[in-house]
Amino acid sequence: MLIIETKNYKELSKRASNLVIDEILKKPNLVLALSTGKTPLRMYKFLIKEYENKKVDFSEITFFNLDEYYPIKKNNKNSYNYYLNKKFFNHISIKRSDINLLDGETKNPKKECLDYERKIKKEKIDLVILGVGVNGHIGFNEPSSLNTSKTHVVKLSDETRKINKTKNIYALTTGISTIMSAKKIILLANGKDKAKAIKRLVEGPIDKDCPVSFLKKHKNLIVIIDKPAASLLK
Ligand code: GLP
Repeated sequence: MLIIETKNYKELSKRASNLVIDEILKKPNLVLALSTGKTPLRMYKFLIKEYENKKVDFSEITFFNLDEYYPIKKNNKNSYNYYLNKKFFNHISIKRSDINLLDGETKNPKKECLDYERKIKKEKIDLVILGVGVNGHIGFNEPSSLNTSKTHVVKLSDETRKINKTKNIYALTTGISTIMSAKKIILLANGKDKAKAIKRLVEGPIDKDCPVSFLKKHKNLIVIIDKPAASLLK
């Protein structure tokens, strides 16, 4: 695990954006899995800026996302589909057919999850950008998730629903094993709310009650944190 401590959120976002660009320069047809939430917002801004400056080309990238509320309409402002389009995809030149997002409108969520897992297995994720929940969740893999889990329907914890201000009770999420199958993982965390989860990842044992701790076993993990998120580390 490589830990990069940055002085603030802006630097964290810039480092993350630079690392993503490095990977794309090495492999222009990268398979990239993206997170939503507050944490990666500024990274997306930097990536868009670098795209406008012609420093990076996304046209050969295959995209996946990690999770989605269920059920939810694609054009609902709280959906991750809406988020990724508005915050990133609408600003860069890509083929819509290269975007694979979990479908919160499906009538058959189990089949949607199976199909999605199959697609990921076929494409093989090169890089996943991860955030972490206050309770240590990754994607929507809540505490007590199994490390063998694949893309599945999940019941959200009350804590996550409160923090995310969502009325949705369920979500679709890639599993721990889906995330771990990525060749490289970049985890981003900022703010003191995340300090406990980061301490458990870096210093604690692997524990299913803190899903982010499963990442300890990954061979190519980069953790980028700002000072408050690093504040509980020894
Ligand atoms: C959310 C999402 C995750 C996200 C995490 C952190 O619930 N399901 O994909 O990474 O929690 O969110 P934030 O960056 O807003 O703290």
